[in-house]
Amino acid sequence: MGSLGNVLVVDREPAIRDLIHRVLQKEGYVVREAACAVEAEEVARRNPLDLIILDRSLPDGDGLKLVQKVSEGFPEVSTLVMTGYGTPEVVLESFRAGAGGILFKPFYPDELLASVRESLLRKRQLKELRRNYWSALRVLARAIDRRDHPSRDHAGRVAEHAVKIGQRLGLQSGALEELRIGALLHDIGKIELEEYLLEKRGPLTSQEFEEVKAHPLLGAQILSLAHFPKGVMEVVLYHHERYDGSGYPFRLAGEQIGRTR
Ligand SMILES: [Fe+2]
Repeated sequence: MGSLGNVLVVDREPAIRDLIHRVLQKEGYVVREAACAVEAEEVARRNPLDLIILDRSLPDGDGLKLVQKVSEGFPEVSTLVMTGYGTPEVVLESFRAGAGGILFKPFYPDELLASVRESLLRKRQLKELRRNYWSALRVLARAIDRRDHPSRDHAGRVAEHAVKIGQRLGLQSGALEELRIGALLHDIGKIELEEYLLEKRGPLTSQEFEEVKAHPLLGAQILSLAHFPKGVMEVVLYHHERYDGSGYPFRLAGEQIGRTR
């Protein structure tokens, strides 16, 4: 039988790490240990992980900083925060940092196992949802493409280039995801344009060009109805602005583009 999942336990106390290790290993999990955040990051770099169980207070700093790093950089890994202080503030702060669950010390082995199962299950459900979400986005991008760039996967290629540039600029994973979605859907406003504008061969009249120039704004409006994140709407809204100010619809220049961020 394969393992139930790869778990990393981070706590300054060897006795606590050992107890959790034994309980989870007996159940069928592969368990690794770390005594502090730096060690945990080292283990995480070298091993596949599904879940990190960590104490709120680590010898080299606040455990929630590690939770935040994990939830931003490795969204596929779940985190379970252990704490001896069950106050509403601690619970709220943990969830705000991106924790997948909380375990109050001291706990019984059964409580530990139930929390681990629940965290992993929630993560799997989230993964499934994300997969469906991305499939729907790609279908939508393909449908937008077919109106204007039949069979060339224009949106997909724009998204790949945009993300590569974003990575070079050092954007965090959340901003990169918004950039990828915005790039995939950048021309969604064109679904509001008349068919003949997209099919016309030869130059557009100035009146026709004015109509085409509305598509970034129309796209942002469509996405705002579906409550897409602000970053996604900004990519769509500004995708025809140019750094020298010669773009449209607002003729923004330089860092004015996306300044609302
Ligand atoms: Fe466009």
